[in-house]
Amino acid sequence: MTSFDFAPLLAPGLPPPASKWTGFAKYNFTGGHNDADHVPVDELLKAATDVLAREGRNLATYGLASGNLKRRGARPKYIYTIPTVQNPTGTIMSETRRHELLRLAAAHGVPIFEDDCYADLIWDGRRPPALYAMSRHGGVIHIGSFSKSIAPALRVGYIVAEWDVLARMLALKNDAGSGALEQMVLGEFCAPHFDAHVPRLTRGLRAKLETLMDALNEHFGTAAEFDDPKGGIFLWVKLPDAVDTQKLFQPALVAGVAINPGAEWSTDPGHGKSRTRLCFANPSHETIRAGVATLAEVCRREFGVPDRIANVAQRARA
Ligand SMILES: Cc1ncc(COP(=O)(O)O)c(C=O)c1O
Repeated sequence: MTSFDFAPLLAPGLPPPASKWTGFAKYNFTGGHNDADHVPVDELLKAATDVLAREGRNLATYGLASGNLKRRGARPKYIYTIPTVQNPTGTIMSETRRHELLRLAAAHGVPIFEDDCYADLIWDGRRPPALYAMSRHGGVIHIGSFSKSIAPALRVGYIVAEWDVLARMLALKNDAGSGALEQMVLGEFCAPHFDAHVPRLTRGLRAKLETLMDALNEHFGTAAEFDDPKGGIFLWVKLPDAVDTQKLFQPALVAGVAINPGAEWSTDPGHGKSRTRLCFANPSHETIRAGVATLAEVCRREFGVPDRIANVAQRARA
């Protein structure tokens, strides 16, 4: 029996079909996954039980009823920024720069879209004020997410903005509403637990980052350059210019190591060419060490670097 052909029904120019999911790589440094050991399962379980017993009948209705960068001469439509723990660099915009950005945006009448989804994951917990909070003239749309602080699979995030812009966004939201149960459970969990959960999570993330930086120093030596980020789940690594991380990707994957090539994470693909983004949150300490060792082997085989590992000269294999 021939299967139905959907292709002629699709508009031309659509992205190519997704490849079939075959599981994560053995050493997975891609994506924005979180640390499985720090999903607060027990507290979420209790929150789910409590809130369902108390408010489960509210699930009968849709939604959750709340009873209770510049071309010369061209003006950009909006500025998108991740000011606090940028993805992939992990940098935090200074307060002075925030003021300057707000001043320029107001002077040119350009709104700012502030994506603050990593702002909770700062090692010392001292996050600068949000652009939204600093803005005196409005014009900032702030979005946050529980994906990075609690669990990405919950699919709960939020927008803070003036009602006139929120009202226009809501009109475009045509999915009959977001799942209410996740929001109820999060509401139940966050009030008593969020403030204690986040420092536990960030301590675990910091420890994994140190393992990753140690492993890179051990296996790549001076061939891997990076800044020590102040928070988040990513390390933005510069390899020698001879390395093209898009060409490193496939042989690394064959060896079981999944990396994000830098060109996919930079507005300037040339800048990203020898860079890679490594997510350290989800792999275990052991996986991080073994994965970096394997990545160094593949990189040396393909590009001849690193040529010294633990200060011992290495010969590139034919
Ligand atoms: C900068 C940034 N914004 C948004 C998201 C997506 O967040 P959510 O899971 O809430 O859709 C990510 C996920 O990795 C991200 O890195």
